[in-house]
Amino acid sequence: MRIYDIIEKKKLGSMLSHEEIQFVVEGYTNGSLPDYQVSALLMAIYFQGMNDDETAYLTECMARSGQMLDLSAISGIKVDKHSTGGVGDTTTIVLAPLVAAAGVPVAKMSGRGLGHTGGTVDKLESFPGFKVELALDDFIENVNKHGVAVVGQTGNLAPADKKIYALRDVTATVDNVSLIAASIMSKKIAAGSNAIVLDVKCGSGAFMKTLDDAKMLAQTMVRIGKAVGRDTIGIVTDMNQPLGNAIGNSLEVIEAIETLKGQGPEDLTLLTKTFAANMFLLAHRVETLAEGLALADELIASGKAMEKLAEWVASQGGDAQAVKDYSLLPSAPYEMEIVAKESGYVESIETELIGKAALVLGAGRENKESVIDLGVGLIMHKKIGDEVALGDSLATLYYSEASHTDAAMRYIYEAYSFSKDRIEKPQLIYTTIS
Ligand code: URA
Ligand code: CA
Repeated sequence: MRIYDIIEKKKLGSMLSHEEIQFVVEGYTNGSLPDYQVSALLMAIYFQGMNDDETAYLTECMARSGQMLDLSAISGIKVDKHSTGGVGDTTTIVLAPLVAAAGVPVAKMSGRGLGHTGGTVDKLESFPGFKVELALDDFIENVNKHGVAVVGQTGNLAPADKKIYALRDVTATVDNVSLIAASIMSKKIAAGSNAIVLDVKCGSGAFMKTLDDAKMLAQTMVRIGKAVGRDTIGIVTDMNQPLGNAIGNSLEVIEAIETLKGQGPEDLTLLTKTFAANMFLLAHRVETLAEGLALADELIASGKAMEKLAEWVASQGGDAQAVKDYSLLPSAPYEMEIVAKESGYVESIETELIGKAALVLGAGRENKESVIDLGVGLIMHKKIGDEVALGDSLATLYYSEASHTDAAMRYIYEAYSFSKDRIEKPQLIYTTIS
């Protein structure tokens, strides 16, 4: 088999065989195929597309390129949740204990943040002592004992995706539905859960800018899940503004705790309850979505979700007192209000710029070697549709270096657009595909 012929075939719009797909994935992962030929093939795929069969097989090959986690030692239906990425997405820290409190096991691998998007694993390190690296045996034991464990993704999970993603990133071939779907699903399949709920973000802050594209991505991932025997639900949700109000590691942890207490922001609360209910459905814990939502409400109101959070934090070596006493979490020494210079209604918020504001304060990584300042970030006080008077605070910055605030302030002013006319609040949950 020659890679040249495979590139030529896809360039002309033909379907690739399983053998050809496997040849490319194996060859690129083991280093026998060079970047330039795989780049050319990715560009051909970008223009010609792949059908369902090609996409599902590519996913399987990438999943099998490294370790396939075996979670069979954990009893019950394991349901994973994945977000296609966004700013201020605190949902996993709310969902993991909420779902575990219902008796549904949560065995989750999460990522670190890079660039303007935050990572769950970084946020969890806000709890003093919290260990995000557990040996596989301990990971499984923790889930069996406490119903929940969340760890950093191991190096050998879908290595083909790691290499191909890095190549796509520098060859303008990220934004292809088949390639994104295969990338995400390969990692989820290798991570070993029986069922998957996908949060497919749609809007200015997401890969998919339009509802049609986001639906297509959700449908593609649901079909891949079915094809490989994993029950999958895709929920298309809004990412035209950050989720919740907090952006920054310990600030988001506090927001997650408040949400588990029933005192969180409306959007984060609605989103996490909806995802919990869908996870309960996939785990056969409930029979209807309404029953799932009621169960989520009950676990929050009774304090059981909060108790599970404390148990989980302690089980991974973290200080469970910090769940009640926020002064034990990292914090920034200084605060500053960013006040509105005009009045009106918030018309739009460029999500990525808000993420960048938090990044320049030190909440994220400029490159892989950067060290995160867990206490810094910002709290937004105005979201799309809110009325704003001159001098109202748009956001509070929490910072540790005064030299960082100018750039953060510029990003925030640039992110907000105002209208004199009343603006509708955007819909948060667009559609569910199952
Ligand atoms: N997230 C991924 O893991 N892969 C993509 O291709 C896009 C988003
Ligand atoms: Ca948030």
